[in-house]
Amino acid sequence: YFKGVIFDLDGVITDTAEYHYQAWKRLAEKLGIPFDRKFNEKLKGVSRMESLNIILSRSNKSYTQEEKERLAEEKNADYKELIAKITPDDLLPGAGEVLESLKKHGYKLALASASKNASFVIKKLKVEHYFDYIVDAATIKNSKPHPEIFLTAAKGLGLAPEYCIGVEDAQAGIEAIKRAGMFAVGVGSSTLKGADVMINDLRDFDIEQYQTMVKR
Ligand code: BG6
Ligand code: MG
Repeated sequence: YFKGVIFDLDGVITDTAEYHYQAWKRLAEKLGIPFDRKFNEKLKGVSRMESLNIILSRSNKSYTQEEKERLAEEKNADYKELIAKITPDDLLPGAGEVLESLKKHGYKLALASASKNASFVIKKLKVEHYFDYIVDAATIKNSKPHPEIFLTAAKGLGLAPEYCIGVEDAQAGIEAIKRAGMFAVGVGSSTLKGADVMINDLRDFDIEQYQTMVKR
């Protein structure tokens, strides 16, 4: 039944979700805006500019578009410094093995990351060759939880959405997968609403089990 698997990147394949957190925290603190891990959950899966707008909504100062662009650029410069050192050792537990095994068993694989740095990170991790299709975040108009990025990935694989499994660590991402009409695997220690199944990390990814769970 399932023929393709579409992965989020940050927080699923590698722990760049932590680097996004650190870079945003640094910026928020500089601006005197309170920022913690709980608030950071709202930013997961969300584009750079939208994330900044969410952070700035906590400030009583208003910012011009130009100032916002400068701030987003500043966060990205910090983030790029953090990801420059990534190596294949930074793959999260199970990630390399899952990609290898799915590929070997003939599944089509895609990457659906909202990050404009995704292809850089995927190259540093040396897993680019596993992906049949990588969505270019710059071409996506609607951020997760809108399903656009997952639908674009399915199209890129030449598969109808119902034949695809989406894998996500963010609440907005799970919602996007479900709205795209796909089976949703949530990754992480806290429950994600709407996920068809939750796993701690990709070591527990079990496609044979998901094949038996399809609602036909
Ligand atoms: C998503 C992350 O994958 O990409 C978000 O979950 C991030 O935290 C978004 O803001 C955009 O990333 P970038 O690299 O384009 O700023
Ligand atoms: Mg993520």
